[in-house]
Amino acid sequence: MTDKINPQKRITIFDTTLRDGDQASGFHLFREEKIEIAKQLSKLGVDVIEAGFPASSQGDYDSVSEISKIIGTPEGPVICALSRAIDSDIEKAATAISSAYKKRIHTFIATSDIHIEDKFKKSRDWVIEQAISAVKKAREYVEDVEFSCEDFGRSDSDYTVDVVSAAILSGASTINLPDTVGWLTPSESYEKVKYVIETVRKRGLDAIFSVHNHNDFGMATATTIEAIRAGARQVEATINGIGERAGNTSLEEIVAIIKTRKLGECNVRTEHIGETSRLLSRITDIYPQPNKAIVGKNAFSHEAGIHQDGMIKGRETYETMNPSEFGVESVLTFGPRSGRNALREKYKQLKISINDNEFDEIVERFKGLADRKKEVDDSDLILAIKNEKQIPVYYKLVSYNPVHVNGNFVSIVELESLGKRERIYEEGDGQIDSAIRGVRKLTRKEELQLTDFNSRSIGRGSDAIGETRINVTKNGWEVKGYSQNSDVVRSAIESFVDAVNRMKYIEDYFNKGSL
Ligand code: KIV
Ligand code: ZN
Repeated sequence: MTDKINPQKRITIFDTTLRDGDQASGFHLFREEKIEIAKQLSKLGVDVIEAGFPASSQGDYDSVSEISKIIGTPEGPVICALSRAIDSDIEKAATAISSAYKKRIHTFIATSDIHIEDKFKKSRDWVIEQAISAVKKAREYVEDVEFSCEDFGRSDSDYTVDVVSAAILSGASTINLPDTVGWLTPSESYEKVKYVIETVRKRGLDAIFSVHNHNDFGMATATTIEAIRAGARQVEATINGIGERAGNTSLEEIVAIIKTRKLGECNVRTEHIGETSRLLSRITDIYPQPNKAIVGKNAFSHEAGIHQDGMIKGRETYETMNPSEFGVESVLTFGPRSGRNALREKYKQLKISINDNEFDEIVERFKGLADRKKEVDDSDLILAIKNEKQIPVYYKLVSYNPVHVNGNFVSIVELESLGKRERIYEEGDGQIDSAIRGVRKLTRKEELQLTDFNSRSIGRGSDAIGETRINVTKNGWEVKGYSQNSDVVRSAIESFVDAVNRMKYIEDYFNKGSL
């Protein structure tokens, strides 16, 4: 990959998911989780992994040191550790990354007057002395030293030039100019970064200039792009844009822009972006909002009729990128605003032929149905054809009882079908799993694939209501099970029973079990 890159256009991708991302509220990662993510980042092709802040805790020190051993191979990325401009921090960073083949110490100190006066209660000269001594100290351990002017966005530009010049003269080869509180507008970011780079160069000094922007006003991607236009050659970013407060510049957004708008060249293998985002979401159990660019659930989904029609005629009408190049999928979803052409295509895809006379009525019925629901599924498409009001309740959950037998979970599940009750005892990994296994057996639906499972409580008190939404597929058909119940386990089991009923309704349409 690297040899194909034009060095003039090269943008170094520095991933800080494991450091700035990890330090954000609710995102703390354990050592094994960090290692799994670091392996994936290496597969993704990022140039630098900022693995953590070793002086912040023994746990983080151990994580950085393990990542250095396992992922810091000669072919792997640079492993970087963060440290304040304090000797003891730098020593810890140095020993934590010592087994990495390519290693970097990233040391920082704030340069804005707000931080110098309120946080340090010191002078600008004191900050320059600390910066010089920190960079020199880091250079005792490694050749690759990055220096950051924390809160560059609110720092005086001429003073920043003095600090940066001192850091370069002391041995820093990468100079990071962070907009720590996401203060700059895109045009200010361009002007300020350009001014610092040009003025430092006028002094006969140079380095790789980097940016690290936060998203407090939702401008991190825009300010980063403007900094690249101004001459920055390293971008610090995180997967899914996680990070302190409103997060950092999102790696997938920056890489997609660099690639699609030809703003430069980078090593990232974009086809692994989707799986990297999903891995991080699964590990942290925090998913990007549906409308998040590139990796959100809706980033490439088309529901409105006009858009669906455009997509059927030519993908580029509503997609500026090819989602498969980013490891994500393009989908047409259906709702009251969906179009006739897309519905016709969908029925064709499902191998259901409908004549023109019937089709108009089916579209009207489907839209009426979709108007009354948040989300429709394939069973609703059949309801519209059959002109029926609702999916029959083939199966109903009567009761479930969780018991512990020899340390294993067993659920006793009782279902009612056509007035007859049947009961089963089933083992599993917990109450929900054992009960769902029971439902699968009783309904003879063991082959259903559970592709999404979302259980949450509505309300904050102990009387909160459990709500479960699931997705179930079989042979290309997809249905959504839903239930609300004051007992969260019961709501999970009921949502599966709902999905079973929906799938059976489709099967019956095709003459029992022919799916
Ligand atoms: O936001 C920031 O300024 C940082 C520095 C440590 C680079 O995270
Ligand atoms: Zn930061």
